[in-house]
Formats: sequence, C-alpha cells, structure tokens
Amino acid sequence: MEFAYPKGHVFYRKLSRTYPLVTQGEGIYLYDEKGRRYIDGSGGALVVNVGHGQKEIVQKMVEQMGQVGYVHGTQFTTRSIEEYAETLGGILPDGLEKIYFLSGGSESIEAAIKFARQYFLESGHTQRWRVISRWHSYHGNTLGALSLTGRIGMRKPYLPLLIDFPHFPPPYCYRCPFNLSYPQCELECAKTLEQVIQMEGPETISAVILEPIGGATIGALVPPEGYLSLIRKICDRFGILLIDDEVMTGMGRTGKWFAVKHWDISPDIMVLGKGMSSGYFPLSAMITRSEFVERVKERAGGFVHGHTFSHHPVACAVGLAVIQFIKEKKLIEQSAKRGAYLLKRLDELKVFRFVGDVRGRGLMTAIEFVKDQKTKEPFPRVERFTERVIDLAFEHGLILYPGTGFVDGINGDMVMVGPPLIIEEDQVDELIEILKKTFKSISEFGLRNAE
Ligand SMILES: Cc1ncc(COP(=O)(O)O)c(C=O)c1O
Repeated sequence: MEFAYPKGHVFYRKLSRTYPLVTQGEGIYLYDEKGRRYIDGSGGALVVNVGHGQKEIVQKMVEQMGQVGYVHGTQFTTRSIEEYAETLGGILPDGLEKIYFLSGGSESIEAAIKFARQYFLESGHTQRWRVISRWHSYHGNTLGALSLTGRIGMRKPYLPLLIDFPHFPPPYCYRCPFNLSYPQCELECAKTLEQVIQMEGPETISAVILEPIGGATIGALVPPEGYLSLIRKICDRFGILLIDDEVMTGMGRTGKWFAVKHWDISPDIMVLGKGMSSGYFPLSAMITRSEFVERVKERAGGFVHGHTFSHHPVACAVGLAVIQFIKEKKLIEQSAKRGAYLLKRLDELKVFRFVGDVRGRGLMTAIEFVKDQKTKEPFPRVERFTERVIDLAFEHGLILYPGTGFVDGINGDMVMVGPPLIIEEDQVDELIEILKKTFKSISEFGLRNAE
C-alpha cells in the first residue's frame, strides 16, 4: 500500500511525496515497514534529543497514564507536574523561576507575547505591546508566532492576518548584512536593534525575542562574541523584556542545558519545546521571573490565558524522565564533545564546491550550500538544491532537516544536522559517509544538470 496524497483521508504535510511507514525507532535509527534503516540525522526537527525507543521514558509515561491521564490545569496539580517543575527549575538560567507548561513551541511563543503584554499593562505601561524579532528567524506558525517569524515565504500568504511587529537583521557573519567583518564591525547588527526601537517608539515595545543560536530558517547561526550581551544591554536601556526562544536550542542541544548559558545571559522570559519531551509527548513551556508573575497576580489575579492541555500530567512525567535520562547519561557533556567532532568532520565536506559554510554549536549544526564558494552566490531557488540533497540523503538512509530562503527571502539553501545527543563517534562517521555519498551523487549528476 502506498501512503501518498490523494489516497486515504490523511491531510499530509507534503502533498507531493510518498511516505514510508515507520514501524520502529531505536537510538539514532528509524526502521520502516520494508525493513529500511534510516539514521535520524536531524532527530525529526531537532526534537529527539534522547533518541528513539528509550524504555525508561515510555515506562514513566505509561505509569503516569495509569495513575491519572488528565486533569484540568485550573482544578488539580499532580506529583509529575510538581516534581518536573522542581527539577527543571533547578537548571534554569538565573532569575527564571515560574514555569507555565504548554503543548507546542508556537503555543508557548503566543503565551510569551501575551505575558509580556499583560506584565506591562499591569505595570501601567499600557502602550507597550509590540515585540521586535529578527529577519530569517523562526518562532512558529500560529498567527502571533508567525508575526514574529522572519521567514518571508511563510509569512507572505498570511500577511493581512499578521500583527505589526518590527524586525531587525540577524548576526549573519557569513553574509554580513552590513558588508563588515567581525570584530571591526563593532556588532553593527546588534546596534541596529537600537535604531529600530527608536524609530518604532520605545514606549510601544514590550519585548525583543530571539533564538540565541538561529535555527530552522537560517541554520545553526552562532552569534559573534559580545552580541547577546549587547542585545541584553539595549533591552535594559529601554526597559524592554528579552525573550529567549530556546525551543530548538534548549535541553542540551548546543552542549549546555540552554544556549544562553554559553554567554551567561539572563533573559526575562524563556520558551522551551521540542527536546523537553524529546518528542515522546507534546510539551513546551513559557518560563519567567517570579516578580513578573507577582505583578500580574497583584493587579489581575493571574495570567489571563489557558489551554485545555496546559500543565498536562503525562507530558510532565515525560519531561521529568527526559531530564533524568540526560543527567544519567551525561548527554550535555556528550552533546558538546560529539558536536565538536561532528563539526570537524562536516568541515571536511568543504572539498565539495557547493559547500559554502559549515557552522553550529554542540549537536546543532548546519551546512549552507552555494553556487560559488568564492563569491558565495546562492543557487537560484528554481534549482531546489536543498530539496535534492534532502531527497538523495533520504534515499541513502539519512534524514536531514531543510532550510531555504534566508539569503534574500527567496534564495538560500541549507540542511541542518542535529542527531540525537546519544550519537556515538562511529555513528557520526557513518552519517558523514552517507553525506559524502550524497554529495558525490549530486556532484556527478545533479550539479551538471543545474549548470
Ligand atoms: C526556535 C523555535 N521557536 C518556535 C518553534 C515552534 O515550535 P512548534 O513547531 O512546536 O510550534 C520552533 C519550531 O521549529 C523553533 O525552532
């Protein structure tokens, strides 16, 4: 039987492909019904941090389901919620203490936008409601989150529905938006935030949101030293909150529990998702400072918000099991060490003339493709270079995560490599061999066709 649109009743994410039916996941591998094995080189969308099929996680989830599968967040709490909050609370960046559990990244971004607004409303700054984000960022697909997201192609069909949130350029050193280079640039890209704030009116801005390491739409973009602390300073100067979107970077992905810890920055609000549950159950969180929650409590009695599946007992049991697994297996250290090895091996791929940049931190890495290594000219979008790499790698048994459009809103090709943090060194070698095989077949056939 073939699983593809228009057969059956599933409204597939992609209407132009045939889906293999996965029957088993084990560690970094997935197996389909035909017995084909795939390396999950991107952990889905950089989600599966602890790997597939971990019995400990499943057991804790089933135990909680057996005790109580659901209670409403306004009526009860459970031991799983309390213990998870305590454990997660113990590893958060300084100042972050109160955790509002939700189901998905976009949902928690919406909560962050609303919480920042309500905090200022209760503080007497009634005009502050707009959130500034960066171009080529990804914060999700619901309307508030999409209004922040800086990916042009995703925004375009829905522009009339989006909120008037300003954007500023990312710290994209490989293609500096100001044609400067670090450190002579003196972080012009961060300073631009100040101009945007001034032009838009500081009294209207509630928060600045960013991914500490750029993810899905720009590919493991690590900011230069000093960038994040300058952003923090600018926010402080104007009394604006800093929202740290760690949906992709959180829970050990970059070699620390949270990416801001690489630079010791304390955000006012942090958003988590993906790796929190490693994909075993939908789970995300909006986390903030006690004094902000207290302000909202004093004036309005609480956060005017809520979802049926927030503070989910089973999700929290899974979240707790995931943290325990990461601690026991020392996966934070492993992510840093294996990530350095992966990055070194990816760098070897620059012998292929279409590999432009290799970047990342920990096990969050990306390869940017170019038509010309010297001029960095991107492939024209009609070539669908990324899609060809993704499809060929898939055929060779390797799953990668695609990103396009970040050079100028249309062109720009990259793939993210972000395997589960349990990956062993010889498995990194296996992954690299498949990448080499993929790139060779692109060089031999695909590239010639593209020229
Ligand atoms: C940084 C970041 N924020 C938010 C989201 C949205 O999360 P979700 O897809 O769970 O809604 C994503 C998803 O890729 C993300 O990478």
